[in-house]
Amino acid sequence: MARGNFPTDRFSKWPTPFYYYDTTLLDETLRAINTQMQRHKGYHMHYAVKACAHPQVLRHIRQAGLGADCVSGGEIQAALDAGFPARQIVFAGVGKADWEIKLGLQAGIQYFNVESLAELQVINELAVECGRRADVCLRINPEVGAHTHDHIATGRAEDKFGIAMQDMERVIRLAAEMPGIRFAGLHFHIGSQLLVMDDFVALAHRINELQEELEAKGIGPVECINVGGGLGIDYHDPDSHPVPAFEAYFSTYATHLRLRPGQQLHFELGRAIVAQCGSLIARCLYVKQGTAKQFVILDAGMTDLIRPALYGAYHRVENLSSEGDQQLYDVVGPICESSDVFVRDHLMPLTRRGDLIAIRSTGAYGETMASQYNCRPLPKGYTTEDLAQK
Ligand code: LLP
Repeated sequence: MARGNFPTDRFSKWPTPFYYYDTTLLDETLRAINTQMQRHKGYHMHYAVKACAHPQVLRHIRQAGLGADCVSGGEIQAALDAGFPARQIVFAGVGKADWEIKLGLQAGIQYFNVESLAELQVINELAVECGRRADVCLRINPEVGAHTHDHIATGRAEDKFGIAMQDMERVIRLAAEMPGIRFAGLHFHIGSQLLVMDDFVALAHRINELQEELEAKGIGPVECINVGGGLGIDYHDPDSHPVPAFEAYFSTYATHLRLRPGQQLHFELGRAIVAQCGSLIARCLYVKQGTAKQFVILDAGMTDLIRPALYGAYHRVENLSSEGDQQLYDVVGPICESSDVFVRDHLMPLTRRGDLIAIRSTGAYGETMASQYNCRPLPKGYTTEDLAQK
């Protein structure tokens, strides 16, 4: 039987599949983060909206006082709609379109995290055009390899993100001459689902070197250092680790990163804040005996949750309706793709048509990555508050 805290009897009110967000756990996670923010002076958290942009989830995060890290005009709008103050919104991304830059300028966001000289020049022109000045952090590619899936490592020399270290000084000097730009700091992000603290140690050491190098050339100390996000979560045993290892994460930076007096340290965690509070709830449509395998066919598929198909990601799958004997199943979706498999050779209690199935730890990069392939409707998301209202 599932150990997650699910109000299963009330789930029958909603058609499956849907995402369920346990906002009690979300609030507990946010409190754990705020404890750390109070412990370390000058630390600020911007939640990475790309992980989950459900309006109620965003409201909880905003109410806890976090800022927002956005990578598109749509995300900036979602953050503003949820009540995030513009001065707590930062905006990254290698390909910002003109309308997105203008939206950021008009809203008066805190920082543009700029990924190339070409982009800096466009932001300068647009800022001058609308009589504003953009506060800018330069995203530097630190060439620090992150121990994670190849698709979600971002800080290696061959990755498309950020400005090369050897170009950093030149771009900073050019920025200083641009009337629409105020250079404010350095931004980094080395990858996602990182569980080895050594990756963050390596980033901290690289930032120390870069700060010294700049200061030796008479630049800085800069106002803001932003180390991005990336802290991973326990996908295998969500109930043992519902709240990620925040203390170890922040103390890694406190120990290894040498901040200058008054310098702000920004973080952009996404997954670690929302992954464990979300589950994709589906129903078993059919149990099918194949040639060599038994399949549980769900009404949710890779269109609702693409992580297993795209990254070979593991998510715990639990039957919320059955306490029968354990059986070996491949749990699959209805989409016309062989990769539409959630988990293979999975032990689960005897499963029947109609059973409710929870796919755990899907609060991050679940609903936000859903698609309409096969003309399927997008999954809806409900929170603990929605349940109480029914
Ligand atoms: N900051 C920047 C600049 C980022 O690119 C990202 C994630 C984050 C912060 C937040 O990273 P987090 O704390 O969530 O690891 N779709 C993939 C993850 C892609 C992450 C992209 N960037 C997945 O499902 O695993």
